[in-house]
Formats: sequence, C-alpha cells, structure tokens
Amino acid sequence: MAHPKAAPTPGGPGVGDEYYPDYGNSGYDVSHYDIRLRYTPATDRLTGTTTILAKATQDLSRLNLDFLLDVSSVRVNNRPATFTREGEHELVVTPARPVAAGGALTIVVQYAGVPSTEVGAGYTAWIRTPDGALAVGEPEIAWWWYPSNDHPSDKATFDVSVSVPDGVEAISNGIQPRPPVRETLGYTRWSWRSLKPQATYLTFLAVGQYDVTTDTTENGLPVYNAYSQLLSEEFRFAAEASVERTAEIVDWESTVFGPYPFEALGGVVTPPDTLGFALETQTRPNYSSAFFRRGANTYVVAHENAHQWFGDSVSVAEWKHIWLNEGFASYAEWLWSEKNDEGTAQEIFDYLYATYPDDADIWTTAPAEPGVEQLFGDAVYDRGAMTLHQLRLAVGDEDFFEIVRTWAATQKYGNATTEEFIALAEKISGEDLDALFEAWLFTPSKPVVAQTLALRS
Ligand code: ARG
Ligand code: ZN
Repeated sequence: MAHPKAAPTPGGPGVGDEYYPDYGNSGYDVSHYDIRLRYTPATDRLTGTTTILAKATQDLSRLNLDFLLDVSSVRVNNRPATFTREGEHELVVTPARPVAAGGALTIVVQYAGVPSTEVGAGYTAWIRTPDGALAVGEPEIAWWWYPSNDHPSDKATFDVSVSVPDGVEAISNGIQPRPPVRETLGYTRWSWRSLKPQATYLTFLAVGQYDVTTDTTENGLPVYNAYSQLLSEEFRFAAEASVERTAEIVDWESTVFGPYPFEALGGVVTPPDTLGFALETQTRPNYSSAFFRRGANTYVVAHENAHQWFGDSVSVAEWKHIWLNEGFASYAEWLWSEKNDEGTAQEIFDYLYATYPDDADIWTTAPAEPGVEQLFGDAVYDRGAMTLHQLRLAVGDEDFFEIVRTWAATQKYGNATTEEFIALAEKISGEDLDALFEAWLFTPSKPVVAQTLALRS
C-alpha cells in the first residue's frame, strides 16, 4: 500500500545548541561559502554577494540564515526566493520550489549595510578601526558580514574576496589563490581561500593598513603575517618577536599534537585599542596588540596555534563543550613553558591550585557545564588545563600524549563532545576515569588533590 508522501516542512531557526538555541539553523548542511564584498573604510559601507552551496537534510519548504545586514535579493537554485526577517538575526527564505531531502541548494544573497551600526546579541561585534575594520569574534561575528548557518557544527570551505581602496590590505584565512588585483579606479580586490572545513566564527576579515611578512615553512606551507601600521615601535618589535616565531611554534606543536591540519599559517596583529582579545581564526590568528605590551609573548602564539588542532580542526559539537578548546590551548601554554624551562606544568598547576581564592569562579563553575556567563571564564581555561594535567598524572605521559594525538587525529575536521573525550581517555589508558572527570569537569567546587600530588614538583 502506498504511503502518502509527507509535505516538505520548514527548516528550524537553530541547530539545537543548549546555550544558544537560535544560533545556526536546521534543515540543510553547507559545504561552501563564496563571500564577495566591497568595503569602504571611510563610510563603513559594506556591499556583498554571498553564494552558499548546501544540501537539504530534509524535504525543505523554507530555510533560515543568520544575518543582520539589509538584504536586497535572495535566489535559491536560480529562482527568486521570498524572504522575511524573524527575531533579531534570522533571515527566513522561502524558495520558489521545495527542495527534496538530499537535494542541492545554491543560495545567492545580495546585501548592503553599515555593519558597525547593527546590533545583535546586545552589541555590535564589527569593529571599526582608524584605518579600516575587523570582523573577529566568538561566538558571534558572521551575522555582521555574511549570511550563514552560524554554528560550528556546520563547517564549510570558504572563498573570501574583498574589494577595498588602493593602499589598504584586506586579509582573511588560508591562501591567496591570486594576488591582489586592481579592479576599478581606486579599488583593489583581495582573494583568500580556505581549503579545509572552517567554522563560521573562525572566518575573519581585517581591513586596514598592515605591514606584511611572508615566508614558506620547511614543509612548504605559506606563512602570511600582518602588523597594523598603527602600532607604536615598541609594540611592533614585541609583536614581531612573537608572531614571527609562528612557524617554529607550530612545528613544535606538531611534534606534540600530530600533523598540522591546515594549508597555511600566520597571524594578524590588530590596531591598538581595537580588538580586546586574541582569536584562533583558522590558519591565521588575530591578536590584540595588548598581548605585546610587556615585550614578546610567545604564550599567546602557542595558545592560538594550539587551537588550530583544538577548536578549529576538532570543533565543539555544542558551545557547552568549549573547555575542549580552551583547556587544551591553555595546557599548550603550560607545555610551552615546560619546554622552555620557564616552569613545569606541575609548577603551574600548583601555583593556580594554591592561588585562586576558594570562592573564585574557577571553583564554583564546572568547566564542562560553564553556562553562557562563564563560557570564557577561568574554569574553562585554567581548570580545563588543570583537568588535563590531572589526567596526565593519572595515566602517565605515554598514554596522555597518545590520548591527545589520537583525539586530534580521530576527530580531525569534525565536531566533538566532552563525553567522547572521556571515552577515548578511558579506552587508551584502560582505566576508569569517571571520578577524576566528575571532580574536575562536572562539580562546581574545588577538587581535592592528594597531598602527594600537590606537594610534588
Ligand atoms: N577563543 C579566544 C581565545 O581564547 C577567546 C575569545 C574570547 N571571546 C570573547 N567574546 N571574549 O583565544
Ligand atoms: Zn583560547
């Protein structure tokens, strides 16, 4: 007996992230973004066309994109689509014809706006600088410059191409498939390409006047570093003394974590008093100049580049698992300290264990369940790293580094959860580690450390 076929249904306005229910969308899966822009720093005006290649994951009558700027047209599979706004950042698109599950989607969105005036999640994440702009943020940034399925669970490859006034650089992730090309009188187009799956928040744009250094690593990968011309000389020297060592630090990290997962490397040091943090933007982290206030800081370079493995290649399945990014990147700093004879991981552990007051957030927050408020809090960073150190003590160096490398290898380009990490650690070590992880990751109080551990060093 024939079953009546169910009617196509709308995709959902979120992927089901516990912390950010309306981030990302359901009903389709993106494989590639082609983002083509023109940007004028003097007016902060951005115009663009983003073409999204995707596949329907259900019989789809309608789908959402996450975006804030004004949209002038949307086409789906070569026919005009209708679109409306819902809530703050949802663009609801109804294709002329439904798309069957498994069917291809080519979505073309044309738009324009002044990104710094758009408010989403209570603020604007687009940063205007004296000479340009920065689109660098976590977890929100894509909404201000390209329409997307904005959640790390839907990674895709990217082409980013930006036309900017002559004399200004436009920098993004990956490689340059072609050198900058003068296109119209006064404007030059810069083209960038990411060859490996990339989360939407790890896709960045830096427009401004930058001094650029380039190189090729021993393994043949292109290195592209950029330093804002607005940096004063002492910041500039300290920044160079750190970021110029990216290839060396990535090489060392490759010996610890396994092969570097991407096609290029480098760093961008942003104008003073603009970006307030560093971000592990794929293949090319962005650094606040504040990190270089007191001279060279290779720890932040080790941190952001460790994220290339942990965060960028192995991404969170949901934002609550963020300690898998920040705990690992912080522990990479401890390992870098150990390698440089600046203090062992054990010494750093003991210092943090003894120094944080008993009522500090690090102890009252469970790293694996930090909540939105503490997503980037000390529990996620420092207690995340402390958890890894406790694991190392429990299973020994050989098993510990085997766990870390196997994690990077088996979850490469994927999305992971805390539960999967615990299962892997137990499998490789052959030990029951429930009590350790329960105390360190899931309990909102200060774990007790055996005297013998706390006192040794
Ligand atoms: N993932 C970045 C890092 O640790 C931090 C981003 C901070 N984000 C924020 N909204 N403050 O390197
Ligand atoms: Zn980090």
